[in-house]
Amino acid sequence: MVKGVSTCSDVVRKKDVAVCPTVVPHDTMILPTTTTVPDGRHVTISKATDRQISELYVLVQEAARHGDGFGADEFPTEAHFRSEMQDAKMLFVCEQDSGKTLAVLVIALSKFFRGQCVADPYIIVQADERRKGIGEFCFHTCVDYCKRLGFLGIYIDTFSNNLAMRRIVENTPGFRRVGILPMGGCLPDGSIVSSIVYHKDLRVPECQGQQEMNGDLDLNPDPPS
Ligand SMILES: CC(C)(COP(=O)(O)OP(=O)(O)OC[C@H]1O[C@@H](n2cnc3c(N)ncnc32)[C@H](O)[C@@H]1OP(=O)(O)O)[C@@H](O)C(=O)NCCC(=O)NCCS
Repeated sequence: MVKGVSTCSDVVRKKDVAVCPTVVPHDTMILPTTTTVPDGRHVTISKATDRQISELYVLVQEAARHGDGFGADEFPTEAHFRSEMQDAKMLFVCEQDSGKTLAVLVIALSKFFRGQCVADPYIIVQADERRKGIGEFCFHTCVDYCKRLGFLGIYIDTFSNNLAMRRIVENTPGFRRVGILPMGGCLPDGSIVSSIVYHKDLRVPECQGQQEMNGDLDLNPDPPS
């Protein structure tokens, strides 16, 4: 449990006085962890290695080339990507048997909140693994991790043409559409696409009907290379 956000009554208290809790650092989380994705495969979720950060950059660039979720000019170089992601927690979801990367979840700090307390997570699923429920699984895992890390809330901004991501967010309890950015990003053909902004307030008690993951999370141990 995240300190200070551990019980419903405590959450209400924090909400009432609008306290900004300290985000729990990496070393209080336990990873790698194993779980099962919706099609029944066993996966390991672990902190990205340096090599995997490069792999993530390739995945992001590939998605951007197809106008899927990232601006065509968003991360011109890997160095730029790495510097933008330096405070983010990058978690790889890999098939246990083969080691194949199925998806990546990234918990970054939101630029819509001027501090460290609101998360801006994103997910990316390998192109040949899409439409199997892995995206939804990753997003729900992200939300759970954000709670455990002590974030006050989550902003998601997603391109309006990103029907899959919009579907995932809109199907996830607690997310409200709060706005639209007319200029969200640039598509490969040079056109501008709008972004839809969603918000979830993590201070709101969700004691009932909330799926809890067992154990604390630990991102501290160096993952196997
Ligand atoms: C967005 C993304 C993560 C979705 O992953 P996924 O594993 O295919 O998603 P799921 O299989 O869990 O599907 C989730 C929902 O989206 C729908 N969906 C999936 N792909 C879709 C598509 N191309 N068009 C319309 N709906 C789609 C599914 O039917 C499902 O809806 P339902 O539960 O109501 O049936 C994946 O397409 C991706 O990695 N895209 C590139 C990166 C990206 O856009 N990241 C988000 C940045 S904000």
